[in-house]
Amino acid sequence: MIVVASANGAVGIPAAMAVLRDGGSALDAVEAAVRVVEDNPDDHTVGYGGYPNVLGEVELDASIMEGATRRAGAVGAVRGYRHPITLARRVMEALPHVLVVGDGAARLADGMGMVKEDLLTDAARRTWQQGLEGTLDPTTPMAEWLHRIGRLATDPEHVAGTVNVIAHDAAGHLAVAVSTSGAAWKHPGRLGDSPMIGAGNYADDRYGAAACTGWGELAIRAGTARMVVEGMRRGLSVEAACVEALHDLAHLGGIDPATVLMHVVAVDAVGRHCAATTRRGWEYAHQTEAMAEPTVGPRLVVELAGGAS
Ligand code: GLY
Repeated sequence: MIVVASANGAVGIPAAMAVLRDGGSALDAVEAAVRVVEDNPDDHTVGYGGYPNVLGEVELDASIMEGATRRAGAVGAVRGYRHPITLARRVMEALPHVLVVGDGAARLADGMGMVKEDLLTDAARRTWQQGLEGTLDPTTPMAEWLHRIGRLATDPEHVAGTVNVIAHDAAGHLAVAVSTSGAAWKHPGRLGDSPMIGAGNYADDRYGAAACTGWGELAIRAGTARMVVEGMRRGLSVEAACVEALHDLAHLGGIDPATVLMHVVAVDAVGRHCAATTRRGWEYAHQTEAMAEPTVGPRLVVELAGGAS
């Protein structure tokens, strides 16, 4: 048994491991872990306390996928409910759909009896106000305004956050969960890779599971999580599959490979794992059944500067 997460998921790993040690499923484990992160007000990239969109509204995205069946559920641009991961699971289990957004997702939350609340904390509001100071002069021409907002929305410090959790349970099943408040100061309604099955999240018990954090638009364009799993299907090791998928991002047109910020975590069908990144300094967390607590360590660095092979 193993649980692997982005570094900010470390706080949720004990909850996931408790589920697995109790004989619970990988699916229950990843949901339990992500709910802890969504509750964490100090994490400004996920759930309650997340950074808002350009209008100051917190909009959350999440997805969940079960490797045994490849059932998946996702929600996007959810306002007012702090546990989009549970909504994503509800989409997967109760609706004949995979992705539900906006008012439709809120309707689902309401139907489940979820508490509606303001998710914008004072700390996140202050950062949002400081971030936008001087940029929202109403006389600014639209093109210039969009350019400035775009620059803020792609500030790496703000765009990189999301939580990924992958679990491999005692029965050998995989599940993956992803949750985020998305790129800070994003355009209202913007969805990143986190609710996109195949982009930010993919699981297939036969080969492995993968999830992404980082610049979501790139993972959407490249189908990064699915590409990692596809690499394992072709016989690559989990590590080689992660490296190949990150190298692939260097070939997307219109961007300098040196600016690509992407991190992946992956687990293969027998529970071996890898966490890789395009930038030095990014960490991940994991815990196996033999470990008393999660450990946080460095990711494998895949340099894309100057182009990749
Ligand atoms: N990777 C999260 C996002 O771009 O929204």
